[in-house]
Amino acid sequence: MKVSIDMGTTSTGAPATLDLEELLATRLLVQGNSGSGKSHLLRRLLEQSASWVQQVVIDPEGDFVTLADAFGHVVIDAARHTESALQQIAGRVRQHRVSAILNLENLEAEKQMRHAAAFLGGLFDADRDFWYPVLVVVDEAQLFAPSAAGDVSDEARKASLGAMTNLMCRGRKRGLAGVIATQRLAKLAKNVAAEASNFLMGRTFLDIDMSRAADLLGMERRQAEMFRDLQRGHFIALGPAVARRPLPIKIGTVETAARAGSPKLVPLPPAPAPEDALDLILKPGENEPPPRPVVSRPSTAATADVLMQLSRTKPAVLREPEGEDAGGDPGPALNEILQEVLTDPDAAFRSVAVLYQDFLVRCRARRVNGRMLDLPAFRRKLAAARAGVGPGMDESPEWEKAMAVAADLPEDLQGMFLLLARAAMDRAPCPSDAELARARGTRSARRARGLLTYMEQRGLIACREDVYGNRIIAIPVLEWETAPGNPEAPDEAQGAGSETRDLFGTTG
Ligand SMILES: Nc1ncnc2c1ncn2[C@@H]1O[C@H](COP(=O)(O)OP(=O)(O)OP(=O)(O)O)[C@@H](O)[C@H]1O
Ligand SMILES: [Mg+2]
Repeated sequence: MKVSIDMGTTSTGAPATLDLEELLATRLLVQGNSGSGKSHLLRRLLEQSASWVQQVVIDPEGDFVTLADAFGHVVIDAARHTESALQQIAGRVRQHRVSAILNLENLEAEKQMRHAAAFLGGLFDADRDFWYPVLVVVDEAQLFAPSAAGDVSDEARKASLGAMTNLMCRGRKRGLAGVIATQRLAKLAKNVAAEASNFLMGRTFLDIDMSRAADLLGMERRQAEMFRDLQRGHFIALGPAVARRPLPIKIGTVETAARAGSPKLVPLPPAPAPEDALDLILKPGENEPPPRPVVSRPSTAATADVLMQLSRTKPAVLREPEGEDAGGDPGPALNEILQEVLTDPDAAFRSVAVLYQDFLVRCRARRVNGRMLDLPAFRRKLAAARAGVGPGMDESPEWEKAMAVAADLPEDLQGMFLLLARAAMDRAPCPSDAELARARGTRSARRARGLLTYMEQRGLIACREDVYGNRIIAIPVLEWETAPGNPEAPDEAQGAGSETRDLFGTTG
């Protein structure tokens, strides 16, 4: 019986199908830069084949847990089990033929590798009686089968690489069919990639990934150039289960949603002393707008009244430098005060909350309403200033794009990412380790390098060296790249006065 999985449409509008039986025998590799639509593609494949075949998803980000409600997958929170327990659980998954998602999101890199290895090992070692076909989908496969040693222990890397190699090279007889996706083909171990006979290639920005793709597919480099201009959700399909010749396809819609990003926690500002706090609330602030007349309401219950008042007292937000509604232009004053805050040599090492508090205190002393610049606006200005974005540029569409990418990153990576993005946007030399460290709020260059490695493993950036040993960093999502820069250069901006930029684009 032939089962065709409907993946979407070809350029002529015909259905683009995947032959499930062939896929089980010949495996699949999906590659494409961040945002090209790999996870969406995997979701489409999982949804469309859920009723035909058992499925296991190795899910580093917890993206696929939403399949559980619609399709009955069991979600296994890897952080809650030991490695040996996971191995046994995997055995039972095979025995009972239940579809499962191994959610690894709550583990750090090394543990993700170990736990995934144990689980894959359990699938692989299942008793011969249970060698039924299973699709084993691994998203971000370069995390589990990295092409080079990273900063995890050798032991973890060997375990994880071994399990991935078993899956792709020796899994077939045992019914395991690997479907792996990666952002960076060049970061994925060659032997693991080479075992897939089917490919879905999405948008690829870096030359090194392009040439790896060309090698794998047996294409001319020139032909592989077509991967560069692919839109999100568009892939080139090739292989016995999909198409005999490179076939452009567009992935169709999905029924379940990717899990929405978890809400980000913003640290509370340091609590003021209790008597100050009372003061803050009971006395009107400087420049506070007069209260609006209270609308008469049938109920004058005290709580309702308070709630109503609270709903009105949102602080005014300074979006434009003019701030017309402020009675006079507060921009220059706020600007000056922000500069004062930043000239402190230790400013780079303080949290946003502490700097904002400092800013508000200085505003009060100068009788300026500091709340004209609320915390999110302050954070944006600060991020731009720290990344060295010049006057006026912090509202350019390019910078907005970089900020949008940064917003999805863990907070401790944002500063470094924005510094790199600014350098790449301006085609300026790549920042040194010391400069990156400062952007991270640390003095440790080693730590900055560690975070660079982490970002590279996640496909967010790609580092390379020119012949002089200078570093070049590309940012595939933004399609920008820095000029070469000496990684060991001292941090020129160190010390006072380094960040006295005109943040509001006003002069004087
Ligand atoms: N074929 C498509 N149709 C509609 N929306 C899509 C399609 N492909 C991707 N998207 C949307 O584009 C966004 C990025 O897609 P996705 O998360 O699949 O990218 P990715 O390649 O997995 O990126 P990353 O490597 O960063 O995980 C998502 O919001 C997704 O819903
Ligand atoms: Mg993804």
